[in-house]
Amino acid sequence: MAPVTNSRLIFNSPPGDGPFEPGKTLVVDNSHSIDVDTVALDGGFLLKILFVAPDPYLRGLMVGPGQPALIDVPPFILGESIIAPSVGVVVRSETGDVKVGDHICGALPAQNYVVKPGLEAGLLVIQNQYNIPLSAYLGVAGLAGMTAWMAWKEFIGTAKKGSTVFVSTAAGAVGSFVVQLAKLDGCKVIASTGSADRVAYIKEFGADVAFNYKEESTDEVLDKEGPLDIYWDNVGTKTLDSALAHAATNARFISCGMISAYDTRDATVKNLLQLIAKSITIYGLNVATLIPKWAAEFFTEVPKLVAEGKVKFKEHRFEGLASFDDAFVGTMNGTINGTKAIIVVGSE
Ligand SMILES: NC(=O)c1ccc[n+]([C@@H]2O[C@H](COP(=O)([O-])OP(=O)(O)OC[C@H]3O[C@@H](n4cnc5c(N)ncnc54)[C@H](OP(=O)(O)O)[C@@H]3O)[C@@H](O)[C@H]2O)c1
Repeated sequence: MAPVTNSRLIFNSPPGDGPFEPGKTLVVDNSHSIDVDTVALDGGFLLKILFVAPDPYLRGLMVGPGQPALIDVPPFILGESIIAPSVGVVVRSETGDVKVGDHICGALPAQNYVVKPGLEAGLLVIQNQYNIPLSAYLGVAGLAGMTAWMAWKEFIGTAKKGSTVFVSTAAGAVGSFVVQLAKLDGCKVIASTGSADRVAYIKEFGADVAFNYKEESTDEVLDKEGPLDIYWDNVGTKTLDSALAHAATNARFISCGMISAYDTRDATVKNLLQLIAKSITIYGLNVATLIPKWAAEFFTEVPKLVAEGKVKFKEHRFEGLASFDDAFVGTMNGTINGTKAIIVVGSE
C-alpha cells in the first residue's frame, strides 16, 4: 500500500491562565505520512486510531514549558501530538501481547496511526464480552466510568437507602453515571447541569430533582431539597460552598473535579468551617490510585450493566481530528448533546 497521511493533533500554543483557544492551542499537522505495510515495528505493534475522547483533564496538561500540569500526568510537549484517551485497532503486530484485530484502549498520541513498542502500562486490550459499542470504553466503560464506579465503591460502598445525594455536572460522563449509581442504591438524587436539554435527559436517567444552575440558585434548590448526605463534586468553588452550607451532619463529599477552576487555577472555597461543624468527610479522588484495586471487578460488572441497559449514556459524535476543538469546547462548556463527546478518527 502507498504511504498515507498520518495526521497528528499537536500542542501548538499554551493558553496560559485563560480558556482553551480554538485554532491556536492545538492544530492538526498533516505533514507526516506512514506506510502501514512497511513501517518498522521493532518488536511492537501498529494501531489505527478509531476514537478519541476530548476529556476535561486534558486542559490541565496544556501548560507552558517548565510549568507543572494540574494533575499527576506529564504535560503536553510543544510541537508533539497530544496524548488523549483513545481506542484503536491493531493492524500489525510483532509482539505476543496483542494480535491483529485486537482493540486497545488507553492514553495514546492523537493521530491516525501509532506505533507502540509493546502493551505499556495504561494500555488495555478490550475484551468486550458483552459487545457494547467500542467508543463506550472512552466513557461509561472507560476513564469516566471508572472514576464514577470505583470511587462510589471505595468511598461510599452501598449508600443507605433514602440518602440525599447531590451531583454537580450531573449530565456529563462521570456525573451521569454517579446519578445512576446513587439511584441503584435507592438514594434521592439532586442533579445540577447547565442547560434545559441536559436537565431533561438527566431526569430520564433517574435524577429526582434536576436543575439548570445557570438559571436557578443552587442554594435555593438545596435549601428545599437538602440536607445532603453525599455530595459528588465535579465543579469546586461556589458549588462546593453551597454543598458545604447544605451538608447533613456526617456527610460524605467526594472531590472528583473542580472544572470551575481549571482555567484560572483559583479554587477558593469559603465555607470550610462547615467541615468541623458538621463532621464532614471529604475524599480526594484520583482514579489512578483506585484502578489497581477495582479494575477487574469494573470490567466484569460495568460493560454488563451497560449491555443490559441498566446504565445509560448518550454520545455526541464528532468526525475527524480537526473536530477536536469543537468537541473539547463543547465538553468543557456543556454544549454537547450528550454525556460524552466522541471523535471518530478512523474506521476498521
Ligand atoms: N479525580 C479524578 O480522578 C477524575 C477523573 C476523571 C474526571 N475527573 C473530573 O470529573 C469532572 C467530570 O469529568 P467528565 O469527563 O465527566 O466531564 P463532563 O462533566 O462531561 O464535562 C465537564 C462539564 O462541566 C460543566 N462545567 C463547565 N464549567 C463549569 C462551571 N464553571 N461550573 C459548573 N459546571 C461547569 C459543563 O457541564 P454543564 O455546565 O452543562 O453541567 C461541562 O460539560 C471533571 O471536573 C473532570 O476533570 C476527575
